[in-house]
Amino acid sequence: MNPNSYQQLVETTRDMLDRLSSGQISLAPQVMNKDASLYTDPDCFEREKETLFRRLPLMLAASCELPGDGDYKALEVIDIPVLLTREKGGRVRAFLNSCTHRGSVLASGKGCAHRFTCPYHGWTFRNDGRLIGISSQAQFGAADKAKLALVEFPVYESAGLIWVVLDPKSGLDIEAFLSGFDGLLTGYDLRNWQFYEQVSLAGANWKLAFDAHLEFYHLPVLHRKTFGADISNLAQYYFQGPHQRLGLMSANPLIPEQAAFLKLGVVDEAEWDVATMMFGEWILFPNVSINCYPSGVQVMVISQVFPGRSVEESFTVQTYLVERTPTDAEREEVDAVVQFIQKVVREEDLPMSRKQQKALSSGLLPSVYLGRNEEGLQRYYAWRDRVMASSDEGLNELFLRATKTPF
Ligand code: FES
Ligand SMILES: [Fe+2]
Repeated sequence: MNPNSYQQLVETTRDMLDRLSSGQISLAPQVMNKDASLYTDPDCFEREKETLFRRLPLMLAASCELPGDGDYKALEVIDIPVLLTREKGGRVRAFLNSCTHRGSVLASGKGCAHRFTCPYHGWTFRNDGRLIGISSQAQFGAADKAKLALVEFPVYESAGLIWVVLDPKSGLDIEAFLSGFDGLLTGYDLRNWQFYEQVSLAGANWKLAFDAHLEFYHLPVLHRKTFGADISNLAQYYFQGPHQRLGLMSANPLIPEQAAFLKLGVVDEAEWDVATMMFGEWILFPNVSINCYPSGVQVMVISQVFPGRSVEESFTVQTYLVERTPTDAEREEVDAVVQFIQKVVREEDLPMSRKQQKALSSGLLPSVYLGRNEEGLQRYYAWRDRVMASSDEGLNELFLRATKTPF
């Protein structure tokens, strides 16, 4: 971890420990309201896909999903087929998963391949995007292979995560967009974790599904049967550019990672270990949340919330990683954590989003409210509005200015 990020992590830890002993969180200046059509208006949904999902760097994979030379991952994001590859030497590339002959999709799922042969007429591409073979070229006719490479997207790998901009012509400065947040995330050392499991869960409007990741206000109420009614509903937010971290303000010694965090308060700062300081939920703008759960083997869940086919549909991809290969006995414990998290989201959060969607779609509730204790949501929506209003050229300036904002 670079010294600046380490220093930030220490300062945040100090602040969280102070707040845990005082029980005080910082509050937004006022309650904010948003027009309820935010979640139901099809035009707004289309604009979000254009101005957020097709312009911003999206975190599309953990590095350990394609760890070795030749590994690849194919996925679809807002109906765009994407192919991520790791070429010889370790560099990650991102392409439109579409053959340049007549568009067939080249690869699906995950695997290892140094070349991809199109399933339609058999053109062959290397995993660096170059076209290397045109079937029956003599009969096909003249074609300049150099001009028929796969369409490529800007890609950036850092902190064991991979960001892609779904615009081949984008001039966005991805580092400026990340505002140093990736520097903090190196604290997890994710590059050395392992892929465990992935599920896709259907929900309502993507923001209704994502809102639930941005506040803890609902924990003891909606999740009283799973997390328990005693869990804190207070989040202390730490902002960095458009991204944010939520610290749970609970001094409950029964939560193991919380207990470890609290113990830092009685240890010399020089001995604070990075893994313990990382406690909390990390939000990557505009649609990803990262949580680490303790068990014999640490389990990480990365939740990507993607817009679905309509304004009323989304899907949440949960990717589970483990810090190392679990033994058979440990596997049971890891599976229990995975099942628990899936249950919470599948049976509590996402059904709630569908009920909200139905009611909001009536058009009869004019506004929704974001409390002073939900500052993360307030700032998230301020960022969303700012980014959507910005020109392509203005985005770099917007993020560069934000990088200077204190954590
Ligand atoms: S579409 Fe790929 S070879 Fe024809
Ligand atoms: Fe929840």
